[in-house]
Amino acid sequence: ADSKRESLFIISEWAAKFFQQSMFDTQEGQSIGLSYFRERGFREDIIRKFGLGYSPEGWDALTAKAIEEGYKEQFLEETGLAIRNDKGKLYDRFRGRVMFPIHSFTGRLIGFGGRTLKTEKSVPKYVNSPESEIYHKSNVLYGLFFAKKSIRDEDNCYLVEGYADVLSVNQAGIENVVASSGTSLTTEQIRLIARFTKNITILYDGDQAGIKASLRGLDMILEEGLNVKVVLFPDGHDPDSYAKLVGASDFKTYIDKSQKDFILYKTSILLKDAGNDPIKKAGLIREVVESIAKIPDQIKASVFVRECSSLMQIDERALISELNKIRLGKQ
Ligand code: UTP
Ligand code: MN
Ligand code: MN
Ligand code: MN
Ligand code: MN
Repeated sequence: ADSKRESLFIISEWAAKFFQQSMFDTQEGQSIGLSYFRERGFREDIIRKFGLGYSPEGWDALTAKAIEEGYKEQFLEETGLAIRNDKGKLYDRFRGRVMFPIHSFTGRLIGFGGRTLKTEKSVPKYVNSPESEIYHKSNVLYGLFFAKKSIRDEDNCYLVEGYADVLSVNQAGIENVVASSGTSLTTEQIRLIARFTKNITILYDGDQAGIKASLRGLDMILEEGLNVKVVLFPDGHDPDSYAKLVGASDFKTYIDKSQKDFILYKTSILLKDAGNDPIKKAGLIREVVESIAKIPDQIKASVFVRECSSLMQIDERALISELNKIRLGKQ
């Protein structure tokens, strides 16, 4: 069984090289794939660091080459690099896309994300490798292998939504960044980060989906006993687009200046909805206390109760009694 896994790693590593060669060493790859990354403003050192590549157009460029070089159909199928059609013929999963190889945190190649170059809405923006014996999405973080040393050194981990965000944040000089690409954040992913730091800063997209995901992620992180801060990006921007807009130096300043601890973040998000309506405001306070109730460390929780009380100008004892009610309800 271990030799089977090993075969899946090996064919994935071979495929990553194939995609890189297809991008750097072919006319099609240079004029389509490499120019795409360049036009998005990605530097060559970043493209190389993350092993980016290009999957050729046509039905079976990779599959045919793999078979020719003696790789087994079984492993092409099990990694999802190839798909079998009704007629029993294998064809490439990734065609005419720029390729993001996905590594385990120990640096083995386990899967790929492929971005379309087309703008039609009917084409899925990203196609990803399926689950396999070596790729379990729920416990993988894109970029962790390249980020882990910096996460330890900085004692903090930036969490973004997408592949491009990881690249851009790196390009801005921040290496302690990972993405929960393709899945919503899981407890396993948080525990993976917790091996390297207890501090996470969420940098999700500044849209409704991103805000919703950040509130959910924040509670999950608190539940695991980690500290969490959040940076909200201006309307519609993600870390990639914002870094490109303002440049590396202003991007770093923005992150430092606008990161909020979870209470301040959650309060300011919810306050926008509540306005001056006292009933809504009461509901909001309850929601914030629900997040505080997730913190396993009681002393830490009481510090946040105090912050919430001064922020919302509400009696601390009222908050404590609400907190205790929620805690009892959970038992
Ligand atoms: P986004 O839609 O925010 O894409 O999805 P993005 O990362 O900003 O991509 P660019 O900048 O347009 O290239 C965030 C992440 O969700 C996953 C991908 O991992 C993506 O990076 N995703 C998104 C998919 O897996 N499939 C999709 O069709 C879309
Ligand atoms: Mn397994
Ligand atoms: Mn988005
Ligand atoms: Mn995005
Ligand atoms: Mn983006």
